[in-house]
Amino acid sequence: MNYRHAFHAGNFADVHKHVVVLALLDRLARKPKPLFYLDSHAGRGWYDLTSSEASRGQEWQDGIGRLREHAPQTEDVRRYLSLVVSKAEPMRYPGSPILAVQGLREGDRAVFVEKQLEEAYALQQGMRGRRGVSIVHGDGYAALKTYLPPRENRGLVLIDPPYESEREFSDVLRAVTFCLQRWPTGIVAAWYPIKAGAEVSRFHSALKATGLRKLLFVELSVRPSDSPLGLNGSGLIIANPPWQFESEMMATCQELHTALDPSMAGHTRVEWLMPE
Ligand SMILES: C[S@@+](CC[C@H](N)C(=O)[O-])C[C@H]1O[C@@H](n2cnc3c(N)ncnc32)[C@H](O)[C@@H]1O
Repeated sequence: MNYRHAFHAGNFADVHKHVVVLALLDRLARKPKPLFYLDSHAGRGWYDLTSSEASRGQEWQDGIGRLREHAPQTEDVRRYLSLVVSKAEPMRYPGSPILAVQGLREGDRAVFVEKQLEEAYALQQGMRGRRGVSIVHGDGYAALKTYLPPRENRGLVLIDPPYESEREFSDVLRAVTFCLQRWPTGIVAAWYPIKAGAEVSRFHSALKATGLRKLLFVELSVRPSDSPLGLNGSGLIIANPPWQFESEMMATCQELHTALDPSMAGHTRVEWLMPE
């Protein structure tokens, strides 16, 4: 595997995904009962934006670099910025595990799975001393079989693979289906890249064909969807989203779009792929 998330940390897609994941955890934490969180493709935790990898494409400049200059309007963006922007360490960006544990409470439980040993080790270092957290070095898809359904019976699974292989969309489809078979009431969020081509519409059609209900997609594009430049947009498919999440995400994504795509070349879409 060649993928290193350090090249992409803090880019517009990371910002979009992290705002949405924190918003889901916030809604779950509004009820006092313990929750379970599983991140199947966790990454290393902390990313140094001055590293040679991050400096190469400077992707973070169009993501957190833009958003941190922005005065937040929605509560979801405000919460995200309050956790991400550190005056003491402005060039350190937190990945999904570091952000998620800040949304967890005493008694909640989290499992982070990472396949690359070096990344899993770095994550373990970053999490030292956190109670209720397990770091697993292994395959995130296999871990779904081990950990689902969780005893808490409420919570979130994040599936955020690198999409290096052509099979990744079908692996994600299988994983989402599997999670919901094992745990029909769990919230499952799977990230996907939006690039030129028909992959996303094929993915959406395949999801529809599963017969699953209550599937919302939340997309943010910073370029026209057919632009050949590379990553045009970031999408999440969310099964069993919390009540009113659709309308709340419309406002949040519109705010992100205004801040991250000043030329307004892209767009945002928050729609039911399959309603209840
Ligand atoms: C997109 S990055 C994750 C970013 C992280 N979720 C975040 O938002 O900060 C994908 C990660 O998955 C890891 N990975 C790739 N294949 C995996 C697998 N089968 N199981 C677990 N981790 C995997 C990669 O090493 C990489 O760190």
